[in-house]
Amino acid sequence: MLLRLEGVTRTVPLIDGAPLTILSGVDLEVAVGDRISIVGRSGSGKSTLLNLLGLLDNPTTGEMTFDGREVRSYSSAVRDRVRGRDVGFIFQQFNLLQGRTALENVMTPLLYAEGRQFWQRARIAAEMLDRVGLGHRASSMPDKLSGGEQQRVAIARSLVRGPRLILADEPTGALDLETGSSVMELLDEVATASGAALVTITHDPAIAALSKTHYRLDLGVLTPVAGYGGPALTPSAAAPDATGSTRQDEAADSVADTERVSA
Ligand SMILES: Nc1ncnc2c1ncn2[C@@H]1O[C@H](COP(=O)(O)OP(=O)(O)OP(=O)(O)O)[C@@H](O)[C@H]1O
Ligand SMILES: [Mg+2]
Repeated sequence: MLLRLEGVTRTVPLIDGAPLTILSGVDLEVAVGDRISIVGRSGSGKSTLLNLLGLLDNPTTGEMTFDGREVRSYSSAVRDRVRGRDVGFIFQQFNLLQGRTALENVMTPLLYAEGRQFWQRARIAAEMLDRVGLGHRASSMPDKLSGGEQQRVAIARSLVRGPRLILADEPTGALDLETGSSVMELLDEVATASGAALVTITHDPAIAALSKTHYRLDLGVLTPVAGYGGPALTPSAAAPDATGSTRQDEAADSVADTERVSA
């Protein structure tokens, strides 16, 4: 299992000293190749959860393992190295470096890599840009690219080191419907090619439906949901078993397959 969270909470101190609990009792497993969607209202804790999954923050209480190792035991240097190597982030606002070309943007994560990835960074970045269909725009500045093109550059950048976990926070939020779907298709394709898991946070049920396993976050509580527009899961399939895990994955697979057929 790539990532496992058990009873994870995240509490932050407010200015007046009173603690604010943003996440409570979060159980989640992410395996290589998974496609997971998380839907929730503004303020429900989605970005807070994504920051935990991406090793940017520690849980306040509960267990969280990455590759079977308790993340709290990581030194900050190890945590940074694991994050740089294994986690790719994609944001709603693309977060590209302005004043740097598309190629330079994609190359940036490789500056922190070692060996071949570092020495061959220009070539590896150019290949990645090709894979997202933007080889011909390598020397373009971000402000000369469309929103969809900028997001494709951001995807190339997040995948250039071959992460095993891709975390996308509202990746289509700034795009029109059609561009958003083609960006998600691309994301799925490149994630599949590199064998990565993809966790997508979205407000959009149509985007969530592209995943295989679905969760909802309400006031910091994460709950599995059956799917979007497909046949509902039977209660026994959705209910946690004695070990606390669910058979959601299996059942959601068939839901997602039905959706793909009817989409
Ligand atoms: N460091 C912090 N200190 C205080 N409050 C915080 C902190 N981080 C997050 N919060 C609060 O926790 C709640 C959840 O924040 P979070 O950013 O995770 O929400 P979200 O679900 O991503 O919302 P959105 O959809 O608007 O991006 C919000 O009420 C936010 O104000
Ligand atoms: Mg957010």
